[in-house]
Amino acid sequence: MNTDELKSEFERIFQRPAQGCARAPGRVNLIGEFTDYNLGYVMPAALEFCTTVLYRKRDDNQVVVYSHNYPGESDSFSVGTEIVAGESQWGNYVRGCAATVQADGGVLGGLDILIASDVPQGAGLSSSAALEVSVIGALNHAFGLGYSLEKIATLGQSAENDFMGCSCGIMDQLISAKGQAGHALLIDCRSLESNAVAMPDNLALVIINSNYPRKLVDSEYNQRRQDCETAAQKLGVETLRDADLATLEQAKDSLSADEYKRAHHIITENARVLATVGALQSGDIKALAESMTGSHQSLQRDFEVTVPATDTLVEICNSVLGERGVARMTGGGFGGAIVCFCPPEDVELVKIAVAEQYPQKCGLEADIYVCKTGAGLQVESLKGWSGHGNG
Ligand code: GLA
Repeated sequence: MNTDELKSEFERIFQRPAQGCARAPGRVNLIGEFTDYNLGYVMPAALEFCTTVLYRKRDDNQVVVYSHNYPGESDSFSVGTEIVAGESQWGNYVRGCAATVQADGGVLGGLDILIASDVPQGAGLSSSAALEVSVIGALNHAFGLGYSLEKIATLGQSAENDFMGCSCGIMDQLISAKGQAGHALLIDCRSLESNAVAMPDNLALVIINSNYPRKLVDSEYNQRRQDCETAAQKLGVETLRDADLATLEQAKDSLSADEYKRAHHIITENARVLATVGALQSGDIKALAESMTGSHQSLQRDFEVTVPATDTLVEICNSVLGERGVARMTGGGFGGAIVCFCPPEDVELVKIAVAEQYPQKCGLEADIYVCKTGAGLQVESLKGWSGHGNG
């Protein structure tokens, strides 16, 4: 849906025009999985899929939220007082953002909000980070909070950690806030410094959603994080970012089998991210294939977050593409999507192979997106915006 249609929908619902528009994208992670909460390196890219938030200030302390994606549903809550979870799952993301901003000292007022998103949900493309970053971007603009993009991202992460109960790292919110069209970002999750890495023009970026029903994802995710933190403690380092393979081997006997494997993934994955920068920039598919395949295998064997559906999709792509392309799982695992690079002329082959083999092997249908990278958070005043006073 385009912004004009959304503006009309806003006016229909709230009987007044929207004053502002915040837009934040979903993302695909090219490499660097689960390294973010170990303060290591990641290399995601923002996509053109995005979440749009239209808003207008109210003269009371109510936040009233509608979603174009959930017709007939709405949520409302008061600000300036404690914000607790409500019944709407998507509404809770908005509540979580407002609660986190307030807990950080941000002073909020009432707001009418209409949300619309084309980020595929449950695909591991960070639809929740897109929602958090667009909502906090809207709150920042509406109430003149003066946040930097990094601050918006860390508040989004806190909303996810403290309100939604998922101990995620900073990657998704940071790329959603700071992404650059035509580029991936190499992010150092300790300093939050990021460097743009140009996407290759000789390769297509293909994302394939397994549509595997994701279950118990948050508890498994949190358990992996716990394993990493215990491993770091036993290795005597602040985080696994500071560990190396020699130290890991020396300490092997003091770690449980799981802690050893998780740490092995993180240490090798950080090295793979750094090795991928040059390969991506130059579109060197051989070098990309080496690090992306290494990453997938490590996620399968050491971090144990792939499922037969994502393993099968990766195998299908790799076997049809041979040395011309490569695929790996992407995102939080336990289902979700895979990311594949291949020459544009091979996209059709991938589509046919997946359509023919995946349903037969896994009993599921996949969704395939040939993607372009997009920009990070964008916020603009619309006609009718009258500054930070009540509207
Ligand atoms: C999810 C989390 C991120 C990151 C990835 C795995 O997307 O939200 O913080 O840990 O999983 O790389």
